[in-house]
Amino acid sequence: MPGPLEPPAQLFVLGAGIMGSGIAGQAALAGHPVTLYDIETRLAERGRERAAHDLERHCVREGRPATEAREAADRISATSELDGLAGSSLVLEAAPESLELKRRLFQEMDRRAPAETLLASNTSSLSITALAAVTKRPERVVGIHFFNPVLRMPLVEIIAGVRTSGETVQRARAFAEGLGKTVTLSQDAPGFVTSRSMAVLVNEAIWMLYDRVATREDIDRAHKLGFHHPMGPLELADLVGLDTLLHVLDRLYTGFRDPKYRACPLLVNLVEAGKLGRKTGEGFYTYPAPPASLGGAA
Ligand SMILES: NC(=O)c1ccc[n+]([C@@H]2O[C@H](COP(=O)([O-])OP(=O)(O)OC[C@H]3O[C@@H](n4cnc5c(N)ncnc54)[C@H](O)[C@@H]3O)[C@@H](O)[C@H]2O)c1
Repeated sequence: MPGPLEPPAQLFVLGAGIMGSGIAGQAALAGHPVTLYDIETRLAERGRERAAHDLERHCVREGRPATEAREAADRISATSELDGLAGSSLVLEAAPESLELKRRLFQEMDRRAPAETLLASNTSSLSITALAAVTKRPERVVGIHFFNPVLRMPLVEIIAGVRTSGETVQRARAFAEGLGKTVTLSQDAPGFVTSRSMAVLVNEAIWMLYDRVATREDIDRAHKLGFHHPMGPLELADLVGLDTLLHVLDRLYTGFRDPKYRACPLLVNLVEAGKLGRKTGEGFYTYPAPPASLGGAA
């Protein structure tokens, strides 16, 4: 019987981007040692620095001692080697939203991680069942879906694939609750609960901009002041990443074969132009370049 995923269970996070660095920081703050992997050491290191930076700001905001942020950051190690998978109790995949890429990663994770280790994906929309199917442990594959920014968002959506065991769901839930998150459980439908609603709302806002119903500022203002949303849908699109949003919409469109999920051509064009939102400095809005160490020009 595998042990609980309580700190200091060793975590391995694949993908040191927006989400991987956030998950690494959150888990380290709860006392877990975390190995943060990316395809290049430079990218893994940049993710670790982003996690350290976000932890520092988080602790100031929460009135927690600065030493907590530093100790947490020290629990994160950055690497471009997959060897650490062999010693991990939980693997969290936060690579780009491509089924083909994630399938390859799950095969590799399955080959290298101990048999009792849980393999989790932070996917926003892809099938957990399809990822589980390429492994020899489909009962230990689960969706653990964090939200952006990870340190601030209280929800974790857990997704059970067709062959995910009840014990795996319980372990994933206990892990997320141990990080201080509130958990909801979803079945494995395209976009689950959260990404399905988010993508429809944001896509509709982009269509309204495309149809010149209102300016981007007024579309966002209408949602903030009319519905009490903390940010407008176009601001949210920039925060999530326009490439990720497009992947989610495409997954919904093909998954349900329903034209209501058709991505607005304006979104497609922005992605093709490399205007992916905050992470590239431009999307529906423009953003000041982040410091080079946190993802600015290399
Ligand atoms: N951005 C969001 O708001 C959000 C929210 C919830 C879930 N997600 C999901 O989280 C995942 C990651 O999204 P993100 O926004 O962090 O993307 P991102 O583009 O910021 O980061 C992805 C990282 O993965 C790395 N990568 C590329 N190929 C890799 C490989 N073969 N192995 C390991 N890493 C690789 C990239 O170098 C990059 O650092 C996606 O599945 C996305 O759908 C995103």
